Amino acid sequence: MRKKVIAGNWKMNMLPNEAIKFIEQLTPMVKNTANEIILCVPYTDLFYSLLTAQNTNIKIGAQNMHWEKSGAYTGEVSGSMLKSIGVEYVIIGHSERRQYFAETDETVNKKIKSALQNELKPIVCVGETLNQREEEKQIEVVTNQIKIALNGITSSQIENVIIAYEPIWAIGTGKTATANDANEMIKAIRNEISTLYNEEIASKIIILYGGSVKKENSKELFSCSDIDGGLIGGASLNVDDFTKICLSV
Ligand code: PGA
Repeated sequence: MRKKVIAGNWKMNMLPNEAIKFIEQLTPMVKNTANEIILCVPYTDLFYSLLTAQNTNIKIGAQNMHWEKSGAYTGEVSGSMLKSIGVEYVIIGHSERRQYFAETDETVNKKIKSALQNELKPIVCVGETLNQREEEKQIEVVTNQIKIALNGITSSQIENVIIAYEPIWAIGTGKTATANDANEMIKAIRNEISTLYNEEIASKIIILYGGSVKKENSKELFSCSDIDGGLIGGASLNVDDFTKICLSV
């Protein structure tokens, strides 16, 4: 049985005092769930969030990292820096980073390798554009993203990787993939993992759905056979909504 994982992606939102208040409110409400609850917060909130989430079942993640350990990369933050303060997860290759910050499948691959070397668990985002879906190329596009992203990642390392299928046309648009479409795509990703590794690894890997997940649709999505939870953007900024999503399965 795969564990359900609910990860909030706050994007460029929330000041430290807001992060602290949010985590303090969330803590008692999710304390009895067996689901893995993760909040991926801006760099400036990481330290405060880690302190506030100490001794709770809420895990803290970052939203990006550089693949090099250190050096002349003004404005960047490395995996070892994240690890040093106690961060556990890091989102890699979110479509907004690919779209606005020129990330490619190749840089995503380097970041995943570096995250794993630093004992961080990467949440690797993949997903097709509206055009690609209209041309019925979604499986080809996503399979290709997975292949390049996981190039060189060993069978033992892959256990610490989470994949998030996020169709770009569904992110922040209010349009959600139907539960059935999302489940089919996630099955196709699992199939690709089976080809790249083996069936056992494919049956164990956690694959999330992301893109306009809300309290109204989370239960239906997360109850599908292959969907192991969600990566939640907008709805993770409201503590009541996020709690309902965390407890919907
Ligand atoms: P959304 O964002 O839930 O606001 O659509 C999801 C994401 O970008 O991870």
